[in-house]
Amino acid sequence: MTSVASLYAWLQRRLRVASNSPQSDAMHLIRHSLSLKCTEDVLSNWDMELQYPQIKLCILNLNRRLSNEPISYITSTREFWSIEFYVNRHTLIPRHETEVIIEAALAIFPDKLAKLAVLDLGTGSGCIILSILSMYTNSTGVGVDLCEKALEVAKKNAQNLGLMNRVILKQSNWFSDVSGKFDIIVSNPPYINADDLIKTGAEVKDFEPTLALTDFADGLTCYRKIAAHLATFLKSGGVGLFEIGFGQMKDVLDIFVAHNLEILDTYKDIHGIDRVISVTKTSSINCSE
Ligand SMILES: C[S@@+](CC[C@H](N)C(=O)[O-])C[C@H]1O[C@@H](n2cnc3c(N)ncnc32)[C@H](O)[C@@H]1O
Repeated sequence: MTSVASLYAWLQRRLRVASNSPQSDAMHLIRHSLSLKCTEDVLSNWDMELQYPQIKLCILNLNRRLSNEPISYITSTREFWSIEFYVNRHTLIPRHETEVIIEAALAIFPDKLAKLAVLDLGTGSGCIILSILSMYTNSTGVGVDLCEKALEVAKKNAQNLGLMNRVILKQSNWFSDVSGKFDIIVSNPPYINADDLIKTGAEVKDFEPTLALTDFADGLTCYRKIAAHLATFLKSGGVGLFEIGFGQMKDVLDIFVAHNLEILDTYKDIHGIDRVISVTKTSSINCSE
């Protein structure tokens, strides 16, 4: 007979070879395989004896994890900004460092009742725009992505969060199919350069969508494309918030400055790494509104 407790202990031991977080992964695998909602549900069933199909499913999922598949793709979920997002292999797995964009938005626009128009370029799972809209309850947004399959995921998340009436999710090559002007434009673009992509671990490189990871060049291509049109789509007083990769700060700032944008601030993640920049239109840029 196998209980939840003994399965957890066994999974944890097996996961030590493949995972930096065997305890958390074991808990996620059990939750997912037994269709339990949260860790508390696992703990309250700690002594429950498991049926053979439940154990079999758990072992199948364990083998996926031992083959380097990220736990979020196995469980189809990832927590971001304390919200559980649905994810699949068409979307980047939301990273906690991307939450710095949301923190920066909150610092710049502290009034959560403000009626802001928000644009998210490369929305993926929709984690950034949907987190922003769930905080700013009077605001509306547009999330775009080149990948139709990623947009299906973002739509599912918008539906789950009851946000479909405040967000438009559509295909666009950056600004190509965007119209209107925005108070906040955010993006976490693919910024891994071609050399670093080769060195990236299998868990990322072999499973996450290449379109979400890299520009196959110097890692800065997307910033150049976005910076070239940003002023046209920002309202006056509007702010652009962009995630950047390790060591990219100076190059990215230079790109925005070269397009006559004013750098407002830079923000570090919890590891002290420069992670997000905020920019705005200089008064010399005259775009009719
Ligand atoms: C790093 S992922 C970010 C996803 C999500 N915003 C997040 O932070 O988790 C970059 C996203 O940009 C999208 N993308 C890549 N090239 C694009 C383009 N030319 N136009 C629009 N989106 C693009 C990818 O499909 C991917 O979803």
